[in-house]
Amino acid sequence: MPVAGSNRPLLFLTLLVFVGLFSLSRNHKDPVPEHASSSESSKLAPTPALVNQVGERGSALTSGGGARDDASSRTIQQRIIAVGDVHGDLAALMQILRRAQLVDLRGHWIGGQDILVQTGDIVDRGPDTIAIYRFFQTLRPQAEAAGGALVSLLGNHELMNSLGGKSATILPPESHKRFKLISTPPPPPLRTDWRYVTKEDIASFGGERNRREAFSTGWIGQEFRTNYSITARVPYLITDDDFPASFAVQAPVLPKTPRGSSDRRFVGDPHVSPSFDAVANPFRLAAASFVHGGITPEYLASLPHSSDEPISEMNRIGHELLASLLAVPGHAPLGLPRTAPAEQREFWSERGPMWNRDWALEDEDEICERAEKACEVLRVRHLIQGHTPQFEGILSRCDGKILLIDTGISRAYGGAHSSLSITYTLSPASTLSVQDAIAHKLISASDADPHAKLETLGEVWIETELVEALYTKGRETETLGKWERVLNAPER
Ligand SMILES: *[C@@H]1O[C@H](CO)[C@@H](O)[C@H](O)[C@H]1NC(C)=O
Repeated sequence: MPVAGSNRPLLFLTLLVFVGLFSLSRNHKDPVPEHASSSESSKLAPTPALVNQVGERGSALTSGGGARDDASSRTIQQRIIAVGDVHGDLAALMQILRRAQLVDLRGHWIGGQDILVQTGDIVDRGPDTIAIYRFFQTLRPQAEAAGGALVSLLGNHELMNSLGGKSATILPPESHKRFKLISTPPPPPLRTDWRYVTKEDIASFGGERNRREAFSTGWIGQEFRTNYSITARVPYLITDDDFPASFAVQAPVLPKTPRGSSDRRFVGDPHVSPSFDAVANPFRLAAASFVHGGITPEYLASLPHSSDEPISEMNRIGHELLASLLAVPGHAPLGLPRTAPAEQREFWSERGPMWNRDWALEDEDEICERAEKACEVLRVRHLIQGHTPQFEGILSRCDGKILLIDTGISRAYGGAHSSLSITYTLSPASTLSVQDAIAHKLISASDADPHAKLETLGEVWIETELVEALYTKGRETETLGKWERVLNAPER
């Protein structure tokens, strides 16, 4: 945007106000619970200093003992932001990340311990391919340094580019028949070469050959293999000490992969103890699943070793496919290599996680039970995916079990600029005000001494999960779901 000289002071002022507002709104993210300041509740909260540590995770904890007490008296909060198909529009992506308060005006990470998940299809349809991959490359270590994470997933367009670039020729055979979009605009005609790849995009790489090289043996292909995954399961309680000890569940151990790529924490199946996996454990499903297309229970059942390690399996198959593409230098971009094993064919079919559209296209009576089944196998509450655009905005189906986050963000589509926000909060009831305790029906307004009653409650936790759609351009935040539970620690 060209700025006339006379407008400079005004622009500067606007910027100042903007930055001011911005830091104000950031402060809201780490709130001191309102009730903590009132004298009546500080009496109720025995360790007010700890009460204020919203979102912080103690590092001292190893196994049980004193450090657990820290966890039992403070509020744990985790925020997860997910962004769907970006398709070559860096400006839109930046607006979305700013709106979600993950980056500042210069694109630097300010999300702290938040987790950003991008569900693939960064590439094609728009010109900013290089700029977006570079941007995420610089953002990743910044997020990690702050204790947060950037979880990058591959979309079918990423894999198509690694398969050879001429995307349209390698659509799986049946997929176009089922490609009916829920809303306008209609898809472009199929089977046209370079349908997805713009001229500017090719030029930005210095030609077709260079572009191919970048996506295979070059810098983008290399990063796909190290820092991009097929699917991720992001738990709401991440470290061991996030779990209240009083529930006597042994927290699942996150996969022990070397640090360096933050998403590695979320792309393998956690080792889960039988006590954690018991249906009675309230935290068993406290997580969300992310993928580009969709994960159906039928596909999960078809996986080798499906019951034990579905997440690791899907990532293994996807990465083996990626690796095999490089083993056949310059192979014809007409589909999978002839030698591709059955599991890769299934993976790359319309039934697999990269292409499936069931959660978007089928009627709710067809899918809600199946979605629940998939959630059960993956141990999550939500199946979150892009791939099938919902131009009006993020769509929640089956009471939030299915969340469709591709909103046609790219200006190639002109859909809504959106991100999905999950805010998970776990607060000990000892930090509740009397008013809130009444609202949660923990005590009754008619109790003779509500304060005393509140103190006798013992270990009670309030869990809140808020799922929202965030939009730019002044569109209001939409609440897609809010779930609250009172968790009573079992008697010991
Ligand atoms: C993967 O991410 C890590 C951590 O941010 C970074 O150091 C590394 O260079 C990335 N790998 C590639 C191939 O870009």
